[in-house]
Amino acid sequence: MSMSEAKKKTGGLAGVVAGESAICTCGLGNGLNYYGYAIEDLANHAEFEEIAFLLQYAQLPNSKELEEYKNKIIAQRELSENLKTILKAIPKETHPMNLMQTAVAALGALEAEKEDFSNQDEKIIRLLGILPSVLCYWHHFVHFGKEIDFNSNQKSIAGYFLEKLQEQDPKEDFIKAMQCSLILYAEHEFNASTFTARTCASTKSDIFSAVAAAIGALRGPLHGGANEAAMGLIESFSSVEEAIEGVNRKLENKELLMGFGHRVYGLGGDPRNALIKVWSKHLGGETLIFKVSEAIENLMKEKKPNLPPNADFYSASAYHFMGIPTAYFTPIFIMSRVSGWCAHIKEQRANNKLIRPSSEYIGPSPRKFIKIQDR
Ligand code: SDX
Repeated sequence: MSMSEAKKKTGGLAGVVAGESAICTCGLGNGLNYYGYAIEDLANHAEFEEIAFLLQYAQLPNSKELEEYKNKIIAQRELSENLKTILKAIPKETHPMNLMQTAVAALGALEAEKEDFSNQDEKIIRLLGILPSVLCYWHHFVHFGKEIDFNSNQKSIAGYFLEKLQEQDPKEDFIKAMQCSLILYAEHEFNASTFTARTCASTKSDIFSAVAAAIGALRGPLHGGANEAAMGLIESFSSVEEAIEGVNRKLENKELLMGFGHRVYGLGGDPRNALIKVWSKHLGGETLIFKVSEAIENLMKEKKPNLPPNADFYSASAYHFMGIPTAYFTPIFIMSRVSGWCAHIKEQRANNKLIRPSSEYIGPSPRKFIKIQDR
């Protein structure tokens, strides 16, 4: 589809094929697949580190490879003293996404990737190991003045994050729900943050700059920030009846319902929704939060079937039921999507061409310059 046809459609490069990739298919009618594996199989039968390995090396690990990979990630959980100094200087009021972006940019300064990218795989594992530590270390320091350590018996990123955030052994079903969420959020083709990462990588910039740029894109409520905004929507209602009335009013006012709609998924819906909804129901199915969520979902199904719930809608209540502060929902998205971003950075590097599209000029015709003294 040409740019002008796409522009007529909705702008935002909708419908434009902006490059080739072997990593993920979504919205093409054959479901959501990472390197050919269906999301349902991955979410129901694997743990997140298997998917992180798949995205990093384009194949699923065997048991020995997974064990070694997990141990490498565990070994990368520590924060350096310099990084702790930087994090301690970031105020409590800071948006956690800016905290995460600062930490990744700081890693680019303190633990730079080699200019020939020969240690890119080590840096990917560093990011997988350190990101949960960054959020938890800052959280406990700015809120309680406490500097946590990074020791843990938890072998998974999911379990380690929950343990360090809440300073207690996480419940098994919380770990399983978090594993599922991390798998669902890991990769999604040329979404805005991934395309940002690829564009940055295409200039031959370093991995930390590309990931920091991607975090900036993910922060927006039209993208990753939607899970936090969806929680705000759900919590704003104190009954199912009030939710139905409120959502109807928002639709009449042409307001956006956060957690619904998708550039790629239409009537067929986002396959990730059903998978995370199972965990939200398991963790809090009898609560008002879940009942309000389901009432909103059913109303949207009836009134706006072309705006299905996306991965963010039930992620919100699932995280809420695990006791995670709403402001940390999108940072969790980073801990997962960093594996997808880095898969695309590696793929871009392997067959690089600077990403530089053209624009359709709609500005003034050529005109005569008038010097400042004559204006
Ligand atoms: C993610 O791309 C990815 O893959 C992203 C992601 C990933 O894994 O990386 O899946 C993660 O970002 C999911 C999306 C999270 N965002 C939200 O939930 C925010 C709410 N959703 C909308 O902002 C919107 O649906 C988008 C941004 C997600 C998609 O928008 P598009 O494709 O640009 O479509 P559009 O904004 O042009 O909307 C078309 C029409 C408009 O109405 P009209 O002007 O034609 O009358 O649908 C309406 C929109 O107003 N609409 C909505 C709506 N989404 C679109 N109306 C109410 N509520 C909504 N959520």
